[in-house]
Amino acid sequence: MKKYPFFIFLLFTFSAFCKAPEMDTLISSEEIKLKIKEYAELINQEYQDKNLTIVMIMKGCICVTADLIREINVPFTLEFVQAKSYGHNGMHAGDLSLLYDKDLDIEGKDLLVIDDIFETGNTMKKVCNRLMQRNPKSIKTLVLLVKEIERKASYRPDYVLFDIPDRFVLGYGLDYKELFRGLPDICAFKNDVAPF
Ligand code: IMP
Ligand code: MG
Repeated sequence: MKKYPFFIFLLFTFSAFCKAPEMDTLISSEEIKLKIKEYAELINQEYQDKNLTIVMIMKGCICVTADLIREINVPFTLEFVQAKSYGHNGMHAGDLSLLYDKDLDIEGKDLLVIDDIFETGNTMKKVCNRLMQRNPKSIKTLVLLVKEIERKASYRPDYVLFDIPDRFVLGYGLDYKELFRGLPDICAFKNDVAPF
């Protein structure tokens, strides 16, 4: 008999863990689709007579890049680097290191660097500085989201699809502890409380 409270406690804990966390949708997949078409048009105009190479900053930009490149009708090549932050606990990134930037063939190319979200601008700045060392002809930047604290950054990306409030967001490529990248909408946890 004495064991029942313990089992009930275990059951509650387990069911709380399994329950999908409650989320607010900040930007729906329909809104994203429309915005992608609008920006693809701008890119088609900008890169008509240029030598476009798209550089993805993995992994968060995977959805926006996959959708954008299917709307672009100028020729382009596709490269990627990975920005990895160490010591992160889901929401707070630590030191940043760059991977897979050694074999990039970008000399003389017109680069469009794509990231998921721009907060302090450190990631984009570090990637662009590294790419500059390989003598591209030009570099422009595109981000899916800019958080409003971007005003602390000293610059703004060339193309910004959406400005969002200072909340932790996930879905449409963005992760929380490497999860939730496959959500079709851009979401935030209800009351900004992370479930685990
Ligand atoms: P920044 O270097 O401060 O501009 O931060 C940009 C990087 O932090 C992005 O490439 C994301 O990987 C990560 N990041 C910042 N805010 C969020 C968020 O709300 N959700 C998921 N990732 C985020
Ligand atoms: Mg990222």
